[in-house]
Amino acid sequence: MTIGIIAGSGFDRLDELEVLHETHGTTPWGRASAPVQQGRLHGQPVLFLSRHGVGHALAPHEINYRANVAALRDAGASALLGVYTVGGITAGVLEPGTLVVPHQIVDYTWGREHTYSQPGDVLHVDFSEPFDGPLREVLVTAAREEGGAGAPPVVDGGVYGASQGPRLETAAEIDRMERDGCDVVGMTGMPEVSLARELGMRIAGICLVVNPAAGRGVISMDEIRETAAAGRARILATLARAVPRIS
Ligand code: HPA
Repeated sequence: MTIGIIAGSGFDRLDELEVLHETHGTTPWGRASAPVQQGRLHGQPVLFLSRHGVGHALAPHEINYRANVAALRDAGASALLGVYTVGGITAGVLEPGTLVVPHQIVDYTWGREHTYSQPGDVLHVDFSEPFDGPLREVLVTAAREEGGAGAPPVVDGGVYGASQGPRLETAAEIDRMERDGCDVVGMTGMPEVSLARELGMRIAGICLVVNPAAGRGVISMDEIRETAAAGRARILATLARAVPRIS
C-alpha cells in the first residue's frame, strides 16, 4: 500500500521530506502542479505532491486536479491523504488550529475540470460516502496522539463545503453554507476527492482551521499565516504516524 499525500497552503515545499526520487508529473490530463516526490517523511515511505505548486503558483480554480490525482496514482499511490486549510463555520470548529477530519462534502465549485469521464466512457461513481472510513479513523487517532495537553481539538467528522475562491466568502454565503450543514469551508477539496474516487483510490482529509469563516469572527491574513505555520508540524507528524497504520 503506497500512500500519497497532497497538501496545499503552508506545505508548498516539504523540507521535512527526504526525497529519494521525483517523477515529472506529466499525465494524459496535463501536468500536475509539481513533480511527485517519492521519499520518507519522518522515516515513513510516502509520495508527496504540492497541490498549488512550489511558491503557491496556482489559485484553487487554476489547479489541474485531474493531473494531480492521476500523477499520484501513476506514481503508485493507492490511497490519498489530503491536507486542507479551512475556515471554521460551526461552534466547535471555530478555534484556529482545530483539526477536522471531515466525513462529508458539499460542492459549491464551478467551471473546474471535475471528471475523468470521456465520451463513451462515462463514470458514475457512488459518492454517498466521499471519504474512506478506516483512513479517517487512522487520521483521527494519529492527530489526537500528536496533540499534547492544551493542543487545539481534533474533531471526528464534519461537512466540508468546497467554495470556488480565490476570494473568501461573504457572511451571507457562509450563513447559507451553515444552513446546508457545512462545518468548514475550503477551496480545494473538490474535485480532488471525487476524482480520486473515480480512479478507485481511497481518500481521507485532514483540515486545519486557520480562521473563523466570514461573519463568524475577525479574519486576519496574518493570523491565517501564523496558524498555518503553527499547525504544520502537528499535521506532518500526524501523517507520518498514520501512514504505517494504513492497510
Ligand atoms: N474560506 C474558504 N477557504 C478557506 C478559508 C475560508 O474562510 N480559510 C482557509 N481556506
